[in-house]
Amino acid sequence: MTAPMRDEGERAAEWVAATGNPGKVREFAAALAPRGVGLVAATDLGVGPFPPEDATTYEENAMLKAAFVALETGRVAIADDSGLEVDALGGEPGVLSARFGGDLGDGERIAYLLQLLRRVPDALRTARFVSVIVVARPEGDVAVFRGVCEGTILQGPRGEDGFGYDPVFFSSDLGRSFGEATLAEKERVSHRGRALRSVLVWLDTPHGRSFLSDRAGS
Ligand code: IMP
Repeated sequence: MTAPMRDEGERAAEWVAATGNPGKVREFAAALAPRGVGLVAATDLGVGPFPPEDATTYEENAMLKAAFVALETGRVAIADDSGLEVDALGGEPGVLSARFGGDLGDGERIAYLLQLLRRVPDALRTARFVSVIVVARPEGDVAVFRGVCEGTILQGPRGEDGFGYDPVFFSSDLGRSFGEATLAEKERVSHRGRALRSVLVWLDTPHGRSFLSDRAGS
């Protein structure tokens, strides 16, 4: 059963995004808006610094962030932990994707990845983005969702859109790089889009609906 669309301005809830990454906040907000869930970034509420993301799984890292923000704000928090898994690198960078190669900008990190893969032929450049989303209430209950998106690492960047590794990730579903995709196109096939769609299905269940009782402005 699909939840009814709400009139603009009518909010079921306002959740807090446990991230300071504007790209992620935009993707979360776009997906949740049709269900009446508004979203504010934790950093805009002055929450932080976040606990270190030093766990070894996406689930644990997302849980740490969501639980921290839910407790700090007293509201429902949504967090994701994500990464790029490159088969030719034995699944690296994985949970360490954001720090891969050290303290680098997106362009430098892409250059580092391409350098490591310089001798790897196209057929062996398979990779996937993984996203784990955790929704947590301050009372302690949590829900966990996972999405995966398959593709290959290009020989060089293509496109200007997106963030992180988007320009070198060729999506098998789209037939082009994430850097060449619009936000809507990416959201349809991406790891985070897939995990977010599971969140929407869950919001139609009694347990999911109970997370909507955090009313905006209350
Ligand atoms: P975290 O989930 O904030 O720890 O970050 C994971 C890292 O994986 C990001 O900093 C990016 O480098 C990369 N990443 C995760 N999702 C995406 C995506 O959708 N596009 C490009 N890079 C991504």
